[in-house]
Amino acid sequence: APSPPPDFKTCGIATITADGPPVPYTCCHLPMPSNVNTIPYYKLPSMTKVRIRQPAHTVDEEFIAKYNLAISRMKELDEKEPLNPLGFKQQANIHCAYCNGAYKIGEKVLQVHQSWLFFPFHRWYLYFYERMLGKLIDDPTFALPYWNWDLPKGMRLPPMFDREGSPLYDERRNPQVRNGTVMDLGSFGDQVQTTELQLMSNNLTLMYRHMVTNASCPLLFFGGRYVLGSTQGVQGTIEKIPHTPVHIWVGTKKDSILPNGKKSYGEDMGNFYSAALDPVFYCHHSNVDRMWNEWKQIGGKRRDLSQKDWLDSEFFFYDENKNPYLVKVRDCLDTKKMGYDYAPSSTVWRNFKP
Ligand code: C2O
Repeated sequence: APSPPPDFKTCGIATITADGPPVPYTCCHLPMPSNVNTIPYYKLPSMTKVRIRQPAHTVDEEFIAKYNLAISRMKELDEKEPLNPLGFKQQANIHCAYCNGAYKIGEKVLQVHQSWLFFPFHRWYLYFYERMLGKLIDDPTFALPYWNWDLPKGMRLPPMFDREGSPLYDERRNPQVRNGTVMDLGSFGDQVQTTELQLMSNNLTLMYRHMVTNASCPLLFFGGRYVLGSTQGVQGTIEKIPHTPVHIWVGTKKDSILPNGKKSYGEDMGNFYSAALDPVFYCHHSNVDRMWNEWKQIGGKRRDLSQKDWLDSEFFFYDENKNPYLVKVRDCLDTKKMGYDYAPSSTVWRNFKP
């Protein structure tokens, strides 16, 4: 059966890890709608202008200033209007609610990772987040940048996120990500010690493998069928690599001591409950989302799933005007129809057949 929207009445305490301590605040959407049955379905607005998402390492200072302004306005809402769904923490908590056990459907826990819900959930999440940022700076063409980690020049933290004290900076990152260090897209912990050139070439080979060789049909790319309440999901190729290694690479080292004196559970990027507290989360997921479009262009059997259980699965979000909506997977398959697209960037990994 398709996955229905969360049951707000049973929204409860999220936990930091499956058997770990509780998240010390509520992750449930605030204000919480009283009745899921009265929430309308979202209709894609007819667009005048398309938002074009740019590679994060290529944006100019004017864009960086706008982006910083928009994020700082979101962060101000946390203090001034804690119940405003456009607030920065409110937005981050969406990830916590959908992934750390707060939202349930009946008795069963909702989890949007490790299954075919991964791509559509994050697409809709970023869709509303991007419109909110645009709304906060009165720019209906504002588009999220994408962290172009599939291109050698993009295989490091985009520099605009590394400016200490700026709204895009996050103190809860592993210091290893600073100052232009090249990442290992395949690492779940220890980075390979080798030259930058070798790392980049390894990364391109991984990209080829996870976009082409190992992702020859929809279930391999999107991930396994979603079974409610089960934790035995099957990840799609890109969710597994490089999506998860990027999270782990950026977040603080597990079991280290955080700036606030507490033990690290990978915060921020390395744990579902806290990942979206790092502004780079959305920039990372913008590229994950772009991979969905790129994958469909490779050909063969690489097209969207046709199963109704996928197409009719639903999520809940607030839009940029603070109105609550239900959305369906079937309405997020074409980003142009959703009013945004990706500025092209060379897909050099296509030439890195292992
Ligand atoms: Cu919802 Cu990158 O995880």
